[in-house]
Amino acid sequence: MSKPLETKVGYLIALTLVAVSLGGMIELFPLVFEQSATKPVADLKPYTALQLEGRDIYIREGCTVCHTQMVRPLQAEVGRYGHYSVAGEDVYERPFLWGSKRTGPDLARVGGRYSDEWHRAHLMDPRSVVPVSNMPAYPWLFETQLSGETTSDKFAVLQMLGVPYSDEEVAAASEQVKGQLESDALIAYLQSLGSDMRRYGAGK
Ligand code: HEC
Repeated sequence: MSKPLETKVGYLIALTLVAVSLGGMIELFPLVFEQSATKPVADLKPYTALQLEGRDIYIREGCTVCHTQMVRPLQAEVGRYGHYSVAGEDVYERPFLWGSKRTGPDLARVGGRYSDEWHRAHLMDPRSVVPVSNMPAYPWLFETQLSGETTSDKFAVLQMLGVPYSDEEVAAASEQVKGQLESDALIAYLQSLGSDMRRYGAGK
């Protein structure tokens, strides 16, 4: 090779790809085999049918745009929200909702912090409980009932992806949510957040 490698475009592309792939594998592979990233934290419970529907409403309404679900291991965050987030909590999360924008507080540990009544008032009109809040109101959630048509299908997909639902739970899911209010589903979901981490001293 008389010319330096950089002037030979074909070689450069091929070797760049090799270098990037190698680097990527070195970063990714350990995580695939790392137990703490793939093993659920003890007692991790998959969502109930109502909580799962609530989670989909959370995604649909764009709550993720203003709220993260990721407590970073920094003293100020742990002091405010509770135990920092660990990978094992999110094993059944598809897709995960960590987020990156905090207009409102992190919600990873909000379960059990307020009563259902508080959440109802807050979702209906955030200013009624937090006067300075700039969170939007979601009054329509109190008017719409879940049809439950697709709930069993959602359970079946999650089961296929490794969430430990039994066949009976998959079959019963639709019937369990049918006719329930969207607001109740969303609140059931919010109340579940962080509940698996309580025994680590998370939340209040
Ligand atoms: C435009 C940004 C924005 C959006 C969108 C938004 N929020 Fe908020 N949220 C806030 C802000 C700001 C606060 C803090 C003031 C308050 O408590 O109302 C807050 C507070 C909260 C709290 C109380 C948290 C705590 O620890 O005190 C909950 C629960 C909550 N939001 C749930 C939701 C849900 C569920 C949705 C979607 C239906 C949502 N938020 C959408 C901005 C937002």
